[in-house]
Amino acid sequence: MRFSQYKLAKLFATTAVGVFALVGCRKEDMSDQPKFYKPYKETAIFADGTSARPLPPGTVARGHLRLEEDLYTGKVGGKEIDYFPIPIAEADLQRGQQKFMIYCSLCHGAKGDGQGMIVKRGFVQPPSFVRLDNPPTDPAQRERNDRVRTSPVGHYYDVITNGYGAMFSHNDRVSVEDRWRIAAYIRALQLSQDAGSAPAAAAAETVAPTAQANASGPETNVQNVDKNR
Ligand code: HEC
Repeated sequence: MRFSQYKLAKLFATTAVGVFALVGCRKEDMSDQPKFYKPYKETAIFADGTSARPLPPGTVARGHLRLEEDLYTGKVGGKEIDYFPIPIAEADLQRGQQKFMIYCSLCHGAKGDGQGMIVKRGFVQPPSFVRLDNPPTDPAQRERNDRVRTSPVGHYYDVITNGYGAMFSHNDRVSVEDRWRIAAYIRALQLSQDAGSAPAAAAAETVAPTAQANASGPETNVQNVDKNR
Protein backbone atom coordinates (compact mmCIF):
# COMPACT_ATOMS: atom_id res chain seq x y z
CA MET A 1 0.00 0.00 0.00
CA ARG A 2 2.71 2.35 0.94
CA PHE A 3 4.48 1.48 -2.27
CA SER A 4 1.54 2.36 -4.52
CA GLN A 5 1.03 5.64 -2.70
CA TYR A 6 4.60 6.48 -3.43
CA LYS A 7 4.11 5.46 -7.05
CA LEU A 8 1.07 7.68 -7.34
CA ALA A 9 2.92 10.63 -5.90
CA LYS A 10 5.79 10.03 -8.29
CA LEU A 11 3.41 9.85 -11.24
CA PHE A 12 1.72 13.06 -10.18
CA ALA A 13 5.03 14.86 -9.79
CA THR A 14 6.24 13.72 -13.21
CA THR A 15 3.00 14.80 -14.86
CA ALA A 16 3.09 18.17 -13.12
CA VAL A 17 6.64 18.82 -14.27
CA GLY A 18 5.66 17.81 -17.81
CA VAL A 19 2.63 20.08 -17.85
CA PHE A 20 4.55 23.05 -16.46
CA ALA A 21 7.30 22.45 -19.01
CA LEU A 22 4.77 22.44 -21.82
CA VAL A 23 3.06 25.58 -20.56
CA GLY A 24 6.45 27.28 -20.27
CA CYS A 25 7.21 26.55 -23.89
CA ARG A 26 3.86 27.68 -25.23
CA LYS A 27 4.06 30.71 -27.44
CA GLU A 28 2.44 33.52 -25.49
CA ASP A 29 1.13 36.60 -27.26
CA MET A 30 2.44 38.82 -24.51
CA SER A 31 6.00 37.71 -25.07
CA ASP A 32 5.72 38.77 -28.67
CA GLN A 33 4.12 42.21 -28.30
CA PRO A 34 5.96 45.32 -29.60
CA LYS A 35 8.36 46.68 -27.00
CA PHE A 36 10.17 50.02 -27.05
CA TYR A 37 12.73 49.30 -24.39
CA LYS A 38 15.48 48.75 -26.96
CA PRO A 39 16.70 51.98 -28.60
CA TYR A 40 15.87 52.25 -32.29
CA LYS A 41 13.88 49.01 -32.26
CA GLU A 42 11.69 48.73 -35.32
CA THR A 43 7.93 48.99 -34.94
CA ALA A 44 4.88 48.95 -37.12
CA ILE A 45 3.15 51.54 -34.93
CA PHE A 46 4.78 54.62 -36.45
CA ALA A 47 4.89 55.36 -40.14
CA ASP A 48 8.67 55.73 -40.23
CA GLY A 49 9.08 52.21 -38.83
CA THR A 50 11.21 53.10 -35.80
CA SER A 51 10.25 53.30 -32.14
CA ALA A 52 12.68 56.21 -31.59
CA ARG A 53 10.71 59.38 -32.06
CA PRO A 54 12.33 62.42 -33.70
CA LEU A 55 12.84 65.43 -31.43
CA PRO A 56 10.44 68.32 -32.00
CA PRO A 57 12.16 71.04 -34.02
CA GLY A 58 14.09 73.51 -31.88
CA THR A 59 14.65 71.04 -29.02
CA VAL A 60 17.66 72.00 -26.90
CA ALA A 61 19.42 69.55 -24.60
CA ARG A 62 19.45 70.58 -20.97
CA GLY A 63 22.37 72.93 -20.30
CA HIS A 64 22.97 73.55 -24.01
CA LEU A 65 20.86 76.63 -24.63
CA ARG A 66 23.41 78.93 -26.20
CA LEU A 67 21.52 82.17 -26.31
CA GLU A 68 24.51 84.50 -26.11
CA GLU A 69 25.52 84.70 -29.74
CA ASP A 70 28.62 86.81 -29.06
CA LEU A 71 29.92 84.49 -26.32
CA TYR A 72 29.51 81.27 -28.30
CA THR A 73 30.22 82.38 -31.88
CA GLY A 74 32.42 85.48 -31.43
CA LYS A 75 30.01 87.29 -33.74
CA VAL A 76 26.90 89.40 -33.62
CA GLY A 77 24.75 89.28 -36.74
CA GLY A 78 27.61 87.61 -38.61
CA LYS A 79 30.10 90.36 -37.71
CA GLU A 80 33.10 89.50 -35.52
CA ILE A 81 32.98 91.32 -32.21
CA ASP A 82 35.84 93.33 -30.78
CA TYR A 83 35.06 93.06 -27.09
CA PHE A 84 35.28 90.26 -24.56
CA PRO A 85 31.91 88.75 -23.63
CA ILE A 86 33.39 87.46 -20.34
CA PRO A 87 35.20 89.59 -17.77
CA ILE A 88 38.95 89.45 -18.27
CA ALA A 89 40.99 89.91 -15.09
CA GLU A 90 44.65 89.19 -14.52
CA ALA A 91 43.94 85.58 -13.53
CA ASP A 92 42.14 85.11 -16.85
CA LEU A 93 45.13 86.43 -18.75
CA GLN A 94 47.38 84.07 -16.85
CA ARG A 95 45.16 81.16 -17.72
CA GLY A 96 45.01 82.41 -21.31
CA GLN A 97 48.80 82.39 -21.36
CA GLN A 98 48.89 78.86 -19.97
CA LYS A 99 46.43 77.62 -22.60
CA PHE A 100 48.23 79.51 -25.35
CA MET A 101 51.50 77.84 -24.40
CA ILE A 102 49.84 74.42 -24.40
CA TYR A 103 47.68 74.64 -27.51
CA CYS A 104 49.02 77.40 -29.76
CA SER A 105 52.71 78.07 -29.12
CA LEU A 106 53.87 74.84 -30.76
CA CYS A 107 52.91 76.37 -34.10
CA HIS A 108 52.44 80.08 -33.43
CA GLY A 109 55.53 80.45 -31.22
CA ALA A 110 55.63 81.58 -27.58
CA LYS A 111 55.70 85.21 -28.75
CA GLY A 112 52.97 84.67 -31.33
CA ASP A 113 55.35 85.42 -34.20
CA GLY A 114 54.50 82.23 -36.13
CA GLN A 115 57.85 80.55 -35.39
CA GLY A 116 56.71 77.57 -33.35
CA MET A 117 58.72 74.37 -33.06
CA ILE A 118 56.46 72.46 -35.44
CA VAL A 119 56.92 75.18 -38.05
CA LYS A 120 60.68 74.93 -37.64
CA ARG A 121 60.28 71.22 -38.36
CA GLY A 122 58.43 71.91 -41.61
CA PHE A 123 54.73 72.58 -40.85
CA VAL A 124 52.97 75.39 -42.74
CA GLN A 125 53.97 78.70 -41.18
CA PRO A 126 51.05 80.60 -39.64
CA PRO A 127 50.81 84.38 -39.84
CA SER A 128 52.29 86.44 -36.99
CA PHE A 129 49.96 87.77 -34.29
CA VAL A 130 52.44 90.48 -33.37
CA ARG A 131 54.38 93.24 -35.06
CA LEU A 132 57.70 91.84 -36.27
CA ASP A 133 61.07 93.59 -36.11
CA ASN A 134 61.83 92.09 -39.51
CA PRO A 135 58.56 91.93 -41.41
CA PRO A 136 58.45 89.58 -44.42
CA THR A 137 59.55 91.15 -47.70
CA ASP A 138 56.70 89.55 -49.60
CA PRO A 139 53.90 92.18 -49.62
CA ALA A 140 51.15 89.54 -49.60
CA GLN A 141 52.61 87.97 -46.45
CA ARG A 142 53.01 91.36 -44.80
CA GLU A 143 49.43 92.22 -45.59
CA ARG A 144 48.25 88.92 -44.17
CA ASN A 145 50.18 89.48 -40.93
CA ASP A 146 48.69 92.95 -40.65
CA ARG A 147 45.18 91.66 -41.21
CA VAL A 148 45.53 88.94 -38.56
CA ARG A 149 47.24 91.28 -36.08
CA THR A 150 44.51 93.91 -36.35
CA SER A 151 41.63 91.43 -36.43
CA PRO A 152 38.87 91.85 -33.85
CA VAL A 153 39.18 89.43 -30.91
CA GLY A 154 36.03 87.68 -32.15
CA HIS A 155 38.14 86.50 -35.09
CA TYR A 156 40.62 84.75 -32.80
CA TYR A 157 37.73 83.11 -30.98
CA ASP A 158 36.24 82.00 -34.30
CA VAL A 159 39.54 80.55 -35.57
CA ILE A 160 40.07 78.58 -32.34
CA THR A 161 36.48 77.32 -32.53
CA ASN A 162 36.26 76.43 -36.23
CA GLY A 163 39.86 76.26 -37.42
CA TYR A 164 41.15 78.16 -40.42
CA GLY A 165 42.72 76.76 -43.61
CA ALA A 166 45.56 74.46 -42.56
CA MET A 167 44.78 74.98 -38.87
CA PHE A 168 42.41 72.52 -37.25
CA SER A 169 39.61 73.42 -34.86
CA HIS A 170 40.34 73.37 -31.12
CA ASN A 171 36.71 73.38 -29.94
CA ASP A 172 36.95 69.85 -28.57
CA ARG A 173 39.86 70.65 -26.26
CA VAL A 174 39.58 74.34 -25.33
CA SER A 175 36.46 75.51 -23.45
CA VAL A 176 34.48 78.56 -24.59
CA GLU A 177 35.81 80.68 -21.71
CA ASP A 178 39.38 79.56 -22.27
CA ARG A 179 39.11 80.52 -25.96
CA TRP A 180 38.30 84.07 -24.87
CA ARG A 181 41.15 83.99 -22.37
CA ILE A 182 43.53 82.91 -25.14
CA ALA A 183 42.17 85.69 -27.38
CA ALA A 184 42.81 88.15 -24.54
CA TYR A 185 46.34 86.81 -24.14
CA ILE A 186 46.97 87.31 -27.87
CA ARG A 187 45.92 90.95 -27.41
CA ALA A 188 48.25 91.19 -24.42
CA LEU A 189 51.11 89.76 -26.52
CA GLN A 190 50.40 92.34 -29.21
CA LEU A 191 50.30 95.19 -26.74
CA SER A 192 53.45 94.15 -24.93
CA GLN A 193 55.44 93.67 -28.12
CA ASP A 194 54.07 96.85 -29.63
CA ALA A 195 54.67 99.11 -26.65
CA GLY A 196 54.59 102.75 -27.60
CA SER A 197 53.96 102.22 -31.32
CA ALA A 198 51.04 103.57 -33.33
CA PRO A 199 49.49 100.10 -33.79
CA ALA A 200 49.55 99.68 -30.01
CA ALA A 201 47.53 102.84 -29.60
CA ALA A 202 45.03 101.55 -32.15
CA ALA A 203 44.83 98.16 -30.43
CA ALA A 204 44.46 99.83 -27.06
CA GLU A 205 41.46 101.70 -28.42
CA THR A 206 39.80 98.47 -29.42
CA VAL A 207 40.45 96.91 -26.03
CA ALA A 208 39.44 99.90 -23.92
CA PRO A 209 35.71 99.89 -24.83
CA THR A 210 35.63 96.27 -23.73
CA ALA A 211 36.55 97.22 -20.22
CA GLN A 212 33.84 99.84 -20.19
CA ALA A 213 31.34 97.33 -21.59
CA ASN A 214 32.30 94.81 -18.93
CA ALA A 215 32.03 97.58 -16.33
CA SER A 216 33.62 95.44 -13.64
CA GLY A 217 36.50 97.67 -12.72
CA PRO A 218 39.85 98.41 -14.23
CA GLU A 219 41.09 94.80 -13.83
CA THR A 220 38.92 93.76 -16.79
CA ASN A 221 40.93 95.96 -19.10
CA VAL A 222 43.62 93.97 -20.84
CA GLN A 223 45.62 97.11 -21.37
CA ASN A 224 45.55 98.02 -17.68
CA VAL A 225 46.50 94.52 -16.66
CA ASP A 226 49.38 94.71 -19.03
CA LYS A 227 50.54 98.03 -17.56
CA ASN A 228 50.21 96.72 -14.02
CA ARG A 229 52.64 93.91 -14.67
C1 HEC B 1 49.36 72.58 -35.69
C2 HEC B 1 49.75 73.97 -35.76
C3 HEC B 1 48.80 75.02 -35.20
C4 HEC B 1 48.27 75.08 -33.94
C5 HEC B 1 48.45 74.10 -32.81
C6 HEC B 1 47.49 76.30 -33.90
N1 HEC B 1 47.54 76.94 -35.10
FE1 HEC B 1 46.65 78.69 -35.59
N2 HEC B 1 47.31 78.52 -37.49
C7 HEC B 1 48.14 77.53 -37.95
C8 HEC B 1 48.37 77.71 -39.38
C9 HEC B 1 49.23 76.83 -40.28
C10 HEC B 1 47.64 78.86 -39.75
C11 HEC B 1 47.51 79.44 -41.15
C12 HEC B 1 46.35 78.70 -41.80
C13 HEC B 1 46.11 79.05 -43.24
O1 HEC B 1 46.15 80.24 -43.58
O2 HEC B 1 45.83 78.11 -44.00
C14 HEC B 1 47.01 79.35 -38.53
C15 HEC B 1 46.25 80.51 -38.47
C16 HEC B 1 45.76 81.05 -37.32
C17 HEC B 1 45.11 82.34 -37.22
C18 HEC B 1 44.93 83.33 -38.36
C19 HEC B 1 43.74 83.02 -39.23
C20 HEC B 1 43.60 84.07 -40.33
O3 HEC B 1 42.70 84.90 -40.21
O4 HEC B 1 44.41 84.04 -41.28
C21 HEC B 1 44.79 82.53 -35.91
C22 HEC B 1 44.09 83.73 -35.31
C23 HEC B 1 45.22 81.35 -35.19
N3 HEC B 1 45.81 80.48 -36.07
C24 HEC B 1 45.07 81.17 -33.83
C25 HEC B 1 45.46 80.02 -33.15
C26 HEC B 1 45.26 79.82 -31.73
C27 HEC B 1 44.67 80.84 -30.80
C28 HEC B 1 45.73 78.58 -31.44
C29 HEC B 1 45.70 77.87 -30.11
C30 HEC B 1 44.42 77.64 -29.52
C31 HEC B 1 46.25 78.01 -32.67
N4 HEC B 1 46.05 78.90 -33.67
C32 HEC B 1 46.82 76.75 -32.77
C33 HEC B 1 48.67 76.48 -37.22
C34 HEC B 1 48.33 76.19 -35.92
